[in-house]
Amino acid sequence: MSSEAPVGVFDSGVGGLSVLGEIRARLPNESLLYVADSGHVPYGEKSPEYIRERCRKIADFLLGQGAKALVVACNTATAAAVAELRERHPGLPIVGMEPAVKPAAAATCSGTVGVLATTGTLKSARFAALLDRFAHDVRVITQPCPGLVECVEQGALAAPQTRALLAAYVQPLLAQGCDTLILGCTHYPFLKPLLRELVPAEVELIDTGAAVARQLARLLGEREQLAVGPAQPTRFWSSGEPAALARVLPVLWGEAAAVAKLGD
Ligand code: DGL
Repeated sequence: MSSEAPVGVFDSGVGGLSVLGEIRARLPNESLLYVADSGHVPYGEKSPEYIRERCRKIADFLLGQGAKALVVACNTATAAAVAELRERHPGLPIVGMEPAVKPAAAATCSGTVGVLATTGTLKSARFAALLDRFAHDVRVITQPCPGLVECVEQGALAAPQTRALLAAYVQPLLAQGCDTLILGCTHYPFLKPLLRELVPAEVELIDTGAAVARQLARLLGEREQLAVGPAQPTRFWSSGEPAALARVLPVLWGEAAAVAKLGD
């Protein structure tokens, strides 16, 4: 596989663009492919079997486009499907992501950490194992956030209904003494400006996009597969309405781009 081959990145929708941005910043020579599975969003309320089936299809598509590595830019899909993807594609660099419990446990002063994530992530065996490993000395309060992903999908980053929903999810965590909030879904970093208005300045917000980009750099470096560049323009596909993704790209990705339809 040529080191100039692209990296395939996917999410249930637009959330993974928060990770794609970190990858572009860290690895500007890499050509990137992005699939938004917006025809099937949200993953958070779907069964693990359903998500695994979607991930199989998307991974096959991205590999068909020549991807040299995959980034599962979705906590929910990682919890349900990354183990199976690694079994199906041994030797392929695959980066997944999970809520940043370890850094949050190190950062908290109050000893109480809040996790905002999807129902699917919070119910997963992977998340339970993460708590077992890293949350011995801290109290972790979890908060599923149905509805938030849909707000981000619409690009409604500062709309009154988004603010109301986010406030309802965050208030109980603050009331219980959380001084550190984990953004355990890749859609949520786009809500950081709104979140900053809703929580005291000393509350730390932690997400894992930058760590994912670092891990990708490490895996490609180990295999001597880092691209020299220049990168090709990033290509986008959506299994939903391509025009809907094209509409939000200038806000969530910082530039306009063409979006192709990903068939089912
Ligand atoms: N962006 C996803 C995550 O990181 C999933 C959102 C959803 O589709 O529910 O968990």
